[in-house]
Amino acid sequence: MKERPRRNRRTAAIRDLVRENHIAVRDLILPVFLIDGQQKKVPIPAMPDFYRYTPDLLLELCDELMRLGIRAIAPFPAIEDRLKDRTGSEALREDGLYLRTIRLLKENYPELLIFSDVALDPYSSDGHDGLVSPAGEILNDETLPLLASMAVAQARAGADYVSPSDMMDGRVGYIRDALDAAGFSATGILSYTAKYASGFYGPFREALDSAPRSGDKKTYQMDPANAIEALRELELDLREGADMVMVKPGLPYLDVLRRLRDAATVPVAVYNVSGEYSMLKAAADRGWLNYETAVREVLLSFKRAGADVILTYHALEFARWEAGNPDH
Ligand code: PBG
Repeated sequence: MKERPRRNRRTAAIRDLVRENHIAVRDLILPVFLIDGQQKKVPIPAMPDFYRYTPDLLLELCDELMRLGIRAIAPFPAIEDRLKDRTGSEALREDGLYLRTIRLLKENYPELLIFSDVALDPYSSDGHDGLVSPAGEILNDETLPLLASMAVAQARAGADYVSPSDMMDGRVGYIRDALDAAGFSATGILSYTAKYASGFYGPFREALDSAPRSGDKKTYQMDPANAIEALRELELDLREGADMVMVKPGLPYLDVLRRLRDAATVPVAVYNVSGEYSMLKAAADRGWLNYETAVREVLLSFKRAGADVILTYHALEFARWEAGNPDH
């Protein structure tokens, strides 16, 4: 036999030499959950080994992140019910949990990149990403000024990139104009370009208590059956000034990730969401698979599909493994 692909798999040294894709800690963004108070690290039942942190403990976590080489985080706030209202006004309160924590993080870790979240759901009594009309409709154009005010407040607090996760039409351009008008032309936009109406967000909604109080998100998040439509969203986001674009969730949408990577002229991110994390934890807890092997394989699948940046709840564990095995 002249052709023997196994020759290039014969030893670890050869495999290391010919490997096509690598996962680096520097490619990862760690999503983090915030809760108000002090000295608390609150477990999330549907996300084993993942916690909601009070701002003081989050600072300690950041210390470890910087040591391990994780230089980017995406914070999300768990807001008390009594602070939620129809318009999500808590999102704009300078002394509220979110803006206060972003300022604290920036003061202490100026080089840590902060990707802040722009959407109403954590603050909304309706649990939707946009304003809800009395008839239960999600209002697009009425939501845009609220999103823009959030983005400007977050930029002022120190966010490096604002990340609209709401899927309202036209929000990237609207936010870009508002940032520029407020003097934040250097603040970037990471757009949730192709965000699907997915069944994999359950654990996240538990962590933030942010599930829709009625209805679902299908009139704004994308239909899981569609891929060409993701290219349309991409075209619009690029035209409106997105600096990075994202596909979410990750594993069930690797084809969409590849198509966006091939078509986009900006970095492409993927969000390996909460339900994807919990699936592996649940199976590993039962002894049904080896957790580290499975996580490495999942992260590699994103690189293979073209991801430049990966938001993943596995980031901290992965970075700890890498610190323990510099050869990997
Ligand atoms: C909503 C938002 C969601 C996630 C991030 N931002 C969930 C939703 O659309 O209900 C999910 C992330 C995850 O599951 O890890 N703005």
